[in-house]
Amino acid sequence: MKQTRREILQAGSAAGLLGALPIAGFAGSGAPTEMRAQQSSVQLAPAQFPQTNIWGYDGQMPGPVIRVKQSGQVERRFVNDLPQASSIHWHGVRIDNAMDGVTGLTQEAVEPGESFDYNFSVPDAGTYWFHAHNRSVEQVARGLYGALVVEEHVAPEVDRDEVLILDDWLLNPETAQIDLEFEAPHDRSHAGRRGNFIATNGRADYQQSVKRHERLRLRLINAANARIFELALSGMEGWAMSYDGMPLEFPEKVDRNFLLSPGQRVDLIVDIIAEPGETAHLVRIDDQRGISQAPFKVDGEATATRRPSPAPLPPNPNMEIGGVDTAKRLRLNMEGGAMGQLNTAILEGEQKSFRQLVQANQFWAFNGTVGMTEYPFAQMTRGETARLEIYNDTSFPHAMHLHGMHFREIFKDGSLGPLRDTFLMFGGETREIAFVAHNPGKWLFHCHMLSHAASGMMTWVEVS
Ligand code: C2O
Ligand code: CU
Repeated sequence: MKQTRREILQAGSAAGLLGALPIAGFAGSGAPTEMRAQQSSVQLAPAQFPQTNIWGYDGQMPGPVIRVKQSGQVERRFVNDLPQASSIHWHGVRIDNAMDGVTGLTQEAVEPGESFDYNFSVPDAGTYWFHAHNRSVEQVARGLYGALVVEEHVAPEVDRDEVLILDDWLLNPETAQIDLEFEAPHDRSHAGRRGNFIATNGRADYQQSVKRHERLRLRLINAANARIFELALSGMEGWAMSYDGMPLEFPEKVDRNFLLSPGQRVDLIVDIIAEPGETAHLVRIDDQRGISQAPFKVDGEATATRRPSPAPLPPNPNMEIGGVDTAKRLRLNMEGGAMGQLNTAILEGEQKSFRQLVQANQFWAFNGTVGMTEYPFAQMTRGETARLEIYNDTSFPHAMHLHGMHFREIFKDGSLGPLRDTFLMFGGETREIAFVAHNPGKWLFHCHMLSHAASGMMTWVEVS
């Protein structure tokens, strides 16, 4: 039970001794739990390598898992012990705008030595994550992220529930230190900053031991700067239960490879079917080769038979996207990058040639404008539905993320795709999404390939 500050004070004076102690020392006293962004070092690369210097929440990479019940409250005092200003964005949460953590749009950057209190409710169950949102291309690559798990009131029956955060790091192959060239023009103008070392939950030796016929819930999060993970299952049979936190109406059997772009999540329920003595794997496909991303060693049998297929997760509240036919029409052209067609665009209010953009280390434009604008890309009234056609007129894939609201793809036949907050688009594609502007405030809309976001692919939507 949550004790109020008043109750603590009364208990203190009743005891006659505790009155002099600092109130912050008591759990539930009203002072939020701290989460400190700190420099530290972790054994990221295999044991024969030195430790890697990182920036992490509470010095950990990934940061501590935050678990909270649906419709509960997340309260953290973010303390910045870094040499750089920072902030925390709670990716995918239908959050109060003031808590969204976007520096320069929803809050001031938290300077070194300062703190900021995040306090918000979580209306939706599912797998979310949090990460730095100031100089994200650097701060996320240095390790400032973690999982936010919002538990259903009635959770599905599984033997265990595991968060698997997938990431790649660009490491010096001798020293195992993170490459500090975060603004490399080649990364920005091509596929983004891609690492040379790939791991799960920040460990080279991630592994689990399981029993045959155990059922696991795997919460996959792609925290990479730019890598699109192509994944498959081996020795286990699984169902996709939700994307980007939002439950599917019908679980989808995983019977082929699937993609997870930066920023995206998928919740899987998997049954271990490998025999005792064998190893089941979450497999990553790299250059058409299957590599173990996460091994699950089978060391016995849980039961003789398997469970029936899982029932869908309970839906989250008020997720209907109505009024698609009469919706406000918006269009976004993505342009630029290497091998693109962009000749000229507006940067900070001035028309520039592509050559001038390159000199400014800027490469991408939305509707002819590079980076953030003074006025929003779209101005909407609360409750209004928008359909947004997006044309990827570039040679690269992009993972577009809308803050604060989920959307669905509208397919050519008029049917709707699953709810998502991050949407992967390949070069040359035109696709359409729809969302309801139910959440007032200023919401960023950007590519989650963070080098792209830092070099032009960023805009915003205002809901009033
Ligand atoms: Cu996960 Cu604006 O980002
Ligand atoms: Cu991009």
